[in-house]
Amino acid sequence: MNKALDKLNEQLSFEYESAYIYKQMEIFADGYDLPGFAHWLGKQSMEEVEHAEKMKSFLLDVGYDVKLLEMSTPKNDYKDIHEVIQTAYEHEKEVTRRIHEIANLAKEEDKRVYSFIQWYIDEQVEEEANFSHLLAMLERAKGNWGGMYIIDGQLASR
Ligand code: FEO
Repeated sequence: MNKALDKLNEQLSFEYESAYIYKQMEIFADGYDLPGFAHWLGKQSMEEVEHAEKMKSFLLDVGYDVKLLEMSTPKNDYKDIHEVIQTAYEHEKEVTRRIHEIANLAKEEDKRVYSFIQWYIDEQVEEEANFSHLLAMLERAKGNWGGMYIIDGQLASR
């Protein structure tokens, strides 16, 4: 039994679940007439699939019996776009917590996983920063639609 590999297999599904959550957020933003946010969140969703695919390839390379786990239905009843981004930021902090847990486990148990997970530790710094910067901009706009549309326009170029 290798707990580090088991945890990584769990994280693989959590990365797909992240993609699913961001896809629902994209749909919310689209329905909320914020195409830039929708585009940005759609890209984020695709990035999560890439994170999952990398894990899948690694697990297969080490001969692990990869199994996808059940996913929860993503939340879709957001109050506004601010709540979407706040929720996404909290979600990324949870991803970071899980990645660090895998790293701590792997450090003793499996050096291959420990080496592999380093990329994700670095990536999470960027993931959290993306959402916290966006959140700061939204907080400054304070729901003012002029400001919101400027941010929306910027996000369209991701
Ligand atoms: Fe794959 Fe956004 O963490």
